[in-house]
Amino acid sequence: MSTEPLIALQNVSRRYDSGPPALDDVSLSVATGEALAILGPSGSGKSTLLNLIAGLDKPTSGTVTVGGKRIDTLSEAASARYRRATIGLVFQFFNLLDDLTVFDNIVLSAQLAGGAKRETHTRATELLRGLGIDRHARAYPGRLSGGERQRVAVARALMNRPALLLADEPTGALDTASGTEVRRLLTALHADGQTIVLVTHDRTLAEQCATRTIEVVDGRIAADTALAPLR
Ligand SMILES: Nc1ncnc2c1ncn2[C@@H]1O[C@H](COP(=O)(O)OP(=O)(O)OP(=O)(O)O)[C@@H](O)[C@H]1O
Ligand SMILES: [Mg+2]
Repeated sequence: MSTEPLIALQNVSRRYDSGPPALDDVSLSVATGEALAILGPSGSGKSTLLNLIAGLDKPTSGTVTVGGKRIDTLSEAASARYRRATIGLVFQFFNLLDDLTVFDNIVLSAQLAGGAKRETHTRATELLRGLGIDRHARAYPGRLSGGERQRVAVARALMNRPALLLADEPTGALDTASGTEVRRLLTALHADGQTIVLVTHDRTLAEQCATRTIEVVDGRIAADTALAPLR
């Protein structure tokens, strides 16, 4: 087995024209199979860090390597291919397409990636069943509860079997019951071997799901804590 980290950031800074750097000389390694929760106050640089790993943003200096490949130097097209092949993304407000059914939302990225129709459909059906939302396959996202929508978003993120699942405040817009559903789901995915990096203010989510937490304060990693397994 390779000992190379799945994610490696080296001396990464992200500066905007005005104000202090959003990220300030951050170095971070994440191994395959880890579940990392990024904590920290509002405006501290958490989403910036996640977006750099997703290739949605570029560092001003430093390097970002995922799966042994530099992603901070990719063109926009190559970066989109990297995301389709390697990354599943889940956001606070789901980002589902309201004009497509649940099923079509889930298969869209696989179709864009050129996946064979039959396999794509089999995989989507499996995911819907596994996440307990198969009865909503033909519904439009607008008809679903917040927790159901987030499960659809997770199914969409998992469609291409990503090496890395990234989530930015996945329970941030959910009520207590829906939050519980999504926390359970992410924890089960991690137990199944999925590598996860998530940004959250939700201490319960971090405690349940994560094997490690980092705290970002003023663009720097202020704490890096391994959590005991088998909690
Ligand atoms: N496009 C931008 N232009 C200028 N400044 C930006 C931009 N995006 C982010 N910033 C700044 O970078 C800093 C970090 O932002 P970031 O979104 O990473 O914070 P965060 O930790 O995710 O906060 P929150 O918990 O509120 O989501 C903030 O000061 C923010 O204002
Ligand atoms: Mg944020």
